[in-house]
Amino acid sequence: MYDWLNALPKAELHLHLEGSLEPELLFALAERNKIALPWNDVESLRAAYAFNNLQEFLDLYYQGANVLRTEQDFYDLTWAYLLKCKEQNVIHTEPFFDPQTHTDRGIPFEVVVRGIQQALKDGEKQLGISYGLILSFLRHLSEEEAFKTLEQAMPFRDSFIAVGLDSSEVGHPPSKFQRVFAKARSEGLVAVAHAGEEGPPEYIWEALDLLKVKRIDHGVRAIEDERLMQRIIDEQIPLTVCPLSNTKLCVFEDMRQHNILQMLERGVKVTVNSDDPAYFGGYVGENFAALYDSLNMSKEQAQRLAQNSLDARLV
Ligand code: ADE
Ligand code: ZN
Repeated sequence: MYDWLNALPKAELHLHLEGSLEPELLFALAERNKIALPWNDVESLRAAYAFNNLQEFLDLYYQGANVLRTEQDFYDLTWAYLLKCKEQNVIHTEPFFDPQTHTDRGIPFEVVVRGIQQALKDGEKQLGISYGLILSFLRHLSEEEAFKTLEQAMPFRDSFIAVGLDSSEVGHPPSKFQRVFAKARSEGLVAVAHAGEEGPPEYIWEALDLLKVKRIDHGVRAIEDERLMQRIIDEQIPLTVCPLSNTKLCVFEDMRQHNILQMLERGVKVTVNSDDPAYFGGYVGENFAALYDSLNMSKEQAQRLAQNSLDARLV
């Protein structure tokens, strides 16, 4: 990592806590919880991190999350991520968590939220990292199940700033969740959604018009629709872009093909994020470094990207 990149104060706006589960911690939690794993060691697990698309990644990501059982597990997961933030000068974070990934395995909602919340609070106090937590619905499940999750979340309403939408994109358009997002907004929660990662620009239109999102997660396929580009430039709708994720999941064949700097130069409010750093080869710092190494990003561009992330915070 480059010192000058590390020194830039940054916010991270697109990070799945479950995707920050490093293989070493995954093995330690499996041992602590007496869970048998299908991999012999950390190296063979890491060797499995080769994906052709989003779904291949998600299959492994949900399997990995199975070692998270107790409040302490969720605390340890979140704390390990916050230590990385501290190391890389990420001064503010708005992480996602996927409650359904856990409640569907019989882990009580409050176990998940309490562990994460306690670590975030300690991180603010001890590391000086401010935060806002985002509850993300799994879009491959039904709207009814999302409603059930929102209901479970309501006793913990003050623990969240927003709702999000993630998991398998194609075939699960934002319109499927229009009513549950309306309900969440009526509770004062902000809306964000993954759109235009693998899905078409129409999904970005739907996220904006039907879900009334304040940010688009990924959104890199907006570039295929000029009218949409004009709208996100005119309205300065932030895109939380994740370069290493996009190349690992073959959204772009190679980092040299990535469109983030092209978008930046057109006036789109793009930001740099890590998505699932344990699976994709690095945290925010490594994502910035990849843009410098492969796209000739200038120092001025890096500064603008970092400033965008601070400007695009929800809290
Ligand atoms: N869940 C975790 N990472 C994701 C991504 N990049 N896209 C959709 N769902 C996800
Ligand atoms: Zn994501």
